[in-house]
Amino acid sequence: MSSVLDKKPEKEDEVIDSALRPKTWSDYIGQEKIKENIRIILTAAKQRSQSPDHLLFYGNSGLGKTTLAQLVALEMEKEIRISSGPAIERAGDLAAILTNLNEGDVLFLDEIHRINNTVEEYLYPAMEDYKLNLILGKGPMARIMELKLPKFTLIGATTRPALLSAPLRSRFGAIFQLNFYKPEDIEKIVERSARLLGIRIEPDAIKIIAERSRFTPRVANRLLKRARDFAEVGGNGIITKETSEHALNFLEVDKMGLEPGDRKILLALIEKFDGGPVGLQSLSAAAMEEEDTILDIYEPYLMQMGFIERTPRGRIASRLAYEHLGIKIKNSQSQLI
Ligand code: ADE
Repeated sequence: MSSVLDKKPEKEDEVIDSALRPKTWSDYIGQEKIKENIRIILTAAKQRSQSPDHLLFYGNSGLGKTTLAQLVALEMEKEIRISSGPAIERAGDLAAILTNLNEGDVLFLDEIHRINNTVEEYLYPAMEDYKLNLILGKGPMARIMELKLPKFTLIGATTRPALLSAPLRSRFGAIFQLNFYKPEDIEKIVERSARLLGIRIEPDAIKIIAERSRFTPRVANRLLKRARDFAEVGGNGIITKETSEHALNFLEVDKMGLEPGDRKILLALIEKFDGGPVGLQSLSAAAMEEEDTILDIYEPYLMQMGFIERTPRGRIASRLAYEHLGIKIKNSQSQLI
C-alpha cells in the first residue's frame, strides 16, 4: 500500500512543514471566500448526516490545497487518505485505496489531472454511486465484480484544471480556485510560522520576506527557514532587516520575488526572441526548462506580476520586464505593453 498512499514525512523540512500546517480553520489565514463556502457545504452535509460532495481545488502549488483538504477531514471528524493521480497506475491500485476507506473518509488525490484514462473510467461510478466494477480475467471468461464502496468524499487537487476531462470535472459538487495571497496575509503567515518555530524576527524582516514570497505560503515558509539559517550562522539568531536582506540576496531572490529560474525565462524571451511573441515549445527549448515547469511554476507568477503576457500568437515580455531586468527597449519595440 505504501506505493500508492503517501509515506510519512521524513526530511527535516517536511517535518517542519507539517508542524506549520494550520490545524484549525482559524489558523488558516486568507482565502476567506473559499473557507466560508466550504464551511457551508460541511455544515449542510453534517445536518443531513451525509458525507459532503466531492470537491475540486485548483491553483498554483504551495497555496494550501492539501491543507484545506486536511481541514475538511478534521471538521468532519474523519480520516484523510492522500494519494495522487500519477501514483494510481492501475484499476487495482484504485480498488486498494477505495476498499480501504471507512464510511465518510476523505480521499485526497493530488495532481488529479495526471490520472490515466483507464483509472479515470473506474473513478466515475465510484464517485457517483460508490461502486467499483472490477473486471476479472480476460476474454470470454472475463467476469465483472461489483464492489460496494463506503461513502467517501473525493477531494481532487490540480494546478491545471483545463486538463481535466469534462466528465471528471462534472462529478465534483463544487470547484474552488485558490488565488495568490494578499501581502498582508503572507505577513501574518510568516509571523505565525516564526512563532511556531520559535524564531525571533523583527517586523521589518517579516515585511521583507513576505514581499519576496510570490504571494505563496510555501515560499514564505521556505524563505523564513533559510533566513533563520543565516541568522544562526552569521548573526545572533535574530532575523533582522539586514539578515533577511542578506539571506534573500544570497539566495538570489530579488525585490519582486523573482528567482534565478524566473529571470532565466524572462531573459530567454527577451534576448533570444526579442521579447516575443514566442510559442511555449520554443521558449522551453531556449530556456532549457520543461514546458510543464514553465506552465506550472514560472508563468503564473510572471503573469501575475505583469512581466509576461500570453497572447494568441505566443508569450510576450512586457515593458515592466525590460525595466526590471535593466534591459533597454529597442525603438522597434515601442509598442510594448
Ligand atoms: N501555512 C501554509 N498555508 C497557511 C495558511 N493559509 N495559513 C496559515 N499558515 C499557513
